[in-house]
Amino acid sequence: MIKIAPSILSADFSDMKHAIYEIEYSSAEYIHIDIMDGNFVPEITFGSKLVSDIRQLSSKVFDVHLMVNRPENHIDSFAKAGADIITIHQESTVHIHRVLQMIKARNLKCGISIVPSTPVSAITPILEMVDLVLVMTVNPGYGGQKLIQSCLDKVIELKEIREREDYSYEISVDGGINLATVQDAASAGIDVAVTGSAFFAAKDKNAFVDSIKKLAKEAIS
Ligand code: DX5
Ligand code: ZN
Repeated sequence: MIKIAPSILSADFSDMKHAIYEIEYSSAEYIHIDIMDGNFVPEITFGSKLVSDIRQLSSKVFDVHLMVNRPENHIDSFAKAGADIITIHQESTVHIHRVLQMIKARNLKCGISIVPSTPVSAITPILEMVDLVLVMTVNPGYGGQKLIQSCLDKVIELKEIREREDYSYEISVDGGINLATVQDAASAGIDVAVTGSAFFAAKDKNAFVDSIKKLAKEAIS
């Protein structure tokens, strides 16, 4: 069964508590938290203060996706705020290996993400040390975009590498995942699906999470 990571990027920021409770009382496993710096990506979202405030409201796994340049400057604050997984972008710093070590040294899970134009080969040297690979299936920066189908080939590739090398990372996809696209992602071999606009557009969040998991299960059985 795949795990679901609703992204609060598509929540109503004026009613964040309600959004967190909607995730909390659904069968989603993670809360996906998109940090944007207005530099690595065009928009700015929020910082570690929000993460630490919502930490009081939820026992879900906090999946923090850093879309920021120089992520090394922000690991401490997000670790202290209560992140469980911190994912950085391959394109965001020269010192990927060092930043992943920083995350691990804080006893957190570490993830690596690649944008649509970055091949899997750019991260093969560090795959042995990561707990999560976040394959961007849209260009990062906004919710509500259409999934770029060719990015799913990277999921297949990552699954093959994991089997061959006996690695243990989870494979997650981020961008354009909804009831119509989750089966293609599941067939490619994902473990986790991030879903922002589709989750928050659903009237019944519980039913949405159950349906998306059911569809994914059907696709692989
Ligand atoms: C995009 C973010 C995503 C976003 C996904 O840059 O990283 O996590 O919230 O939104 P949807 O599911 O609407 O594509
Ligand atoms: Zn994200």
